[in-house]
Amino acid sequence: MTHRVRIADSDHAFDVEEGESVIDAALRAGLMLPYSCRSGTCGTCMGDIVEGSITYPDGLPAAIDSEQDSNGKALFCQARPASDLVIRVNEVHDAGDIRPRRLPARVERMEECAADVRRLFLKLPRDKRLPFLAGQYIDFLLRGGQRRSFSLANAPHDDELLELHIRHLPGGVFSGYVFNEMREGALLRFEGPLGNFFLREDSDRPMILMGGGTGFGPIKGIVEHALYTGVERPMHIYWGARAWPDLYLDHLPREWAAQHPQISYTPVLSEPAESDGWKGATGFVHQQVVKDYPELGDFDIYMSGPPPMINAARTAFADAGLPPDRLYYDSFEAAP
Ligand code: FES
Repeated sequence: MTHRVRIADSDHAFDVEEGESVIDAALRAGLMLPYSCRSGTCGTCMGDIVEGSITYPDGLPAAIDSEQDSNGKALFCQARPASDLVIRVNEVHDAGDIRPRRLPARVERMEECAADVRRLFLKLPRDKRLPFLAGQYIDFLLRGGQRRSFSLANAPHDDELLELHIRHLPGGVFSGYVFNEMREGALLRFEGPLGNFFLREDSDRPMILMGGGTGFGPIKGIVEHALYTGVERPMHIYWGARAWPDLYLDHLPREWAAQHPQISYTPVLSEPAESDGWKGATGFVHQQVVKDYPELGDFDIYMSGPPPMINAARTAFADAGLPPDRLYYDSFEAAP
């Protein structure tokens, strides 16, 4: 049965098909509601039910508690309408014109940049380009309906090839294929662009951009876009990793910082090996940010990385005075 969902204080409404989540239906309708993980673990898609009721097919998701649930909050990436709904969410207007599409892409080239990280460059069919905002991601469509999400690491203006940074996960369905079997010329299918992690260009506040591991990928896309469009706001890039080889493109932010006075770069290692001879910052990357900037009230912060880093940083940054609506993040669960 189809249900109608209307967004309060907006002209927007859309239909949700049986079994479809509110977010999936909104995307299908060309509307961009906030979301990141689409698996119920990050909380980005939380909003209010003003009228009507919802169900969750697999029980209450991890990122909402029973008190929030009974107070009318909902995670729209998991919620299925049980009636017509009126909901309250902050629509992402900037990305609203970009509809995700399903496209084939050919692997143009692969670059080994660490023992367990590859850069993948994809070419779309002739005459096809992917409109996207710097920092968004795509989902590879695998057999059996499985999907694997990866952020775009190139900037939209530099879109002849799509760039992705893939970490090899032991037993990983997609990363195992990339590292063990895939050859240049292989054909992949994906859906995208997805997500609302992208540069807000209407702000003039200084930015902190923090990546954990391959979370550096979308940060790279955002910085390259900012440089291309002439953004002169201060940008302090932090890149957290375990050991020095995990900073697989360390030279790049160093070059940006050397060439652009508005850019600073701080790499942070949590477990540097003795052989690294590391003299830089150590510890967790978000702790280094707060050490450098105990007062975050004047900043916009963009961060991308695994959920433990994101969750720890959200709390630490809020404690340092960062207003929640100035924190933009991409929380990616590493699915095997
Ligand atoms: Fe819904 Fe992450 S919890 S997008």
